[in-house]
Amino acid sequence: KVADTLARLADAADAEAVEAIRIEALGKQGWISALLKTLGKMTPEERQVQGPAIQAMRAQVADAITAKKAELDAADLEARLATEVLDLTLPAPAAPKGSVHPVSQVMDELAEIFADLGFAVATGPEIEDDWYNFTALNMPESHPARAMHDTFYFPDTAPKGGKMLLRTHTSPVQIRSMMAEGAPVRIIAPGRVYRSDSDATHTPMFHQVEGLVIDKDIHLGHLKWTLETFLKAFFETEDIVLRLRPSYFPFTEPSVEVDVGFALVDGKRVLGGSGDEPGHGWMELLGSGMVNRRVIEFAGLDPDAWQGFAFGVGVDRLAMLKYGMDDLRAFFDGDTRWLGHYGFSH
Ligand code: PHE
Repeated sequence: KVADTLARLADAADAEAVEAIRIEALGKQGWISALLKTLGKMTPEERQVQGPAIQAMRAQVADAITAKKAELDAADLEARLATEVLDLTLPAPAAPKGSVHPVSQVMDELAEIFADLGFAVATGPEIEDDWYNFTALNMPESHPARAMHDTFYFPDTAPKGGKMLLRTHTSPVQIRSMMAEGAPVRIIAPGRVYRSDSDATHTPMFHQVEGLVIDKDIHLGHLKWTLETFLKAFFETEDIVLRLRPSYFPFTEPSVEVDVGFALVDGKRVLGGSGDEPGHGWMELLGSGMVNRRVIEFAGLDPDAWQGFAFGVGVDRLAMLKYGMDDLRAFFDGDTRWLGHYGFSH
């Protein structure tokens, strides 16, 4: 019986077959269990002989079962290892990674272009006070131009510089730069600005880059050359035609609005050529002018010794023009599909 059990165990193909043999031999109703029960009815002499013999049988079968189980487990593992092959030469799936936002990209490009022209990058706080944002820029309390800015004010604040507010333009950095550095000054100041305004072409937060040059004998020609040079470099074409229009800003005198010529191609505006050509038009691009002598004074410099020009341009607008984007709000939705469509994702 033992030999037969061991032989069948050796042939068992899987864990189920082994379990069936175990129950048949060692289970409650198993034949070895039955043999053990017979010990009770034996004489002590018989039991002394039969006891160890039956126990040895039981141990032999139990050991064989344990060994067979281990053997089957090992075979299982071998089989799994053989089929579950890891091909370490396959390229790993790409992990999604971030990309530079078009606004940041444009700010970086501007910093690079202006660095070549000798401009440093300056910054100022987004939470400004009334004095830097308005008064020092020649907009006293009652000035009507203040109303055009749709300013976000912080209620119940009135430190030395007046009410706190979210800066409505980057122009307060003009004042901060002159006060901190004296003259000469040659900076651009990129950053966020805020106005209470929201539609397809306006968001309550948007981006500007301010430019400021203060030096000896600076005139409008320097301004025009600088803007032309910067726009040609930014749009990577020599075909940029500017139109300078007289305008008004309290902080520049004279003030110049700068338009750029475009052609309509398939309903889209493509920069290039004079806006006066047939099928062309002018697009308002930025505000600029010679720094008002009162502003130079407010910043603590002598306006008879120092002159300069300043300009302010919308970064979001520049990005839209360069990359052919048409919805300003999409800039701030954080939709990676939109960014990807314009080549701004991994
Ligand atoms: N600060 C102006 C605006 O936000 C732009 C500007 C800057 C105009 C510098 C002239 C000089 O509209």
